[in-house]
Amino acid sequence: MALLEVSGLSKRFGAVVVADQVDITADIGECLGVIGPNGAGKSSVFNLIAGTLAPDGGTVRFAGEDVTRVPAYKRARSGIVRAFQIPQPFPKLTVYENLLVAAQYGAGLVGTAAEEWVIAVLREFGLADKAEILGGRLTLLDRKRLELAKAVASKAKLLLLDEIAGGLTEREVEELAALIVGLKREHAVIWIEHIAHALRAASDRILLLHFGRKLLDGPPAQVLADPVVKQIYMGLAADEAA
Ligand SMILES: Nc1ncnc2c1ncn2[C@@H]1O[C@H](COP(=O)(O)OP(=O)(O)OP(=O)(O)O)[C@@H](O)[C@H]1O
Ligand SMILES: [Mg+2]
Repeated sequence: MALLEVSGLSKRFGAVVVADQVDITADIGECLGVIGPNGAGKSSVFNLIAGTLAPDGGTVRFAGEDVTRVPAYKRARSGIVRAFQIPQPFPKLTVYENLLVAAQYGAGLVGTAAEEWVIAVLREFGLADKAEILGGRLTLLDRKRLELAKAVASKAKLLLLDEIAGGLTEREVEELAALIVGLKREHAVIWIEHIAHALRAASDRILLLHFGRKLLDGPPAQVLADPVVKQIYMGLAADEAA
């Protein structure tokens, strides 16, 4: 039994199908990359897994339990945590304080247990020497680091990363991918990203969504080289050019 087992997940908004019988499994130790053109339904699938959107059909099982009807805040508490393209630390709190909030309210730790846990997370993310800097004063890469660190501090088990590499330089994207590889040790990661080489570096599998359907799910090199990927993206380029 995998940590996350999504089966037959379906959702439509009127005529727009954002999830069409989608099956996904993800386990601790692996990163699943997700690609697909704009509007393919990638973020919607995250909403369905996190519980901010209710499916029309299908099930979401997490840590052995059917959470399909469990509200989002309870899923978050049980370890499903999201990170977005624009990280939003508390700007007036220091890096340390931001992580302490996650340790206390996310992981439910108190006193020295919370403090020691935060110090360990600061070290893991290379943020120890920035502990006293205000969240609002960090560079973009450090804000993204802090976002991931907050998820870890809150004892997330499954990390849902939605295009978090946006806005970074090439070198920073590589650093972020390396951080994500490190996260796999104790987490399951699902990473939606448009930057293929970053996904290839961090992912164990990549899946392709198109019109809410999972068209491919396999090893990164195999999926990225699949003619279907080229067809979909080139088809879009041709449409946009027209
Ligand atoms: N709450 C909603 N109500 C109506 N339509 C929605 C809603 N949420 C998403 N959609 C539509 O569903 C489709 C899929 O959106 P979604 O955000 O899941 O795509 P995506 O693959 O994440 O795209 P992108 O790469 O642009 O982030 C889009 O056409 C979008 O406009
Ligand atoms: Mg999206």
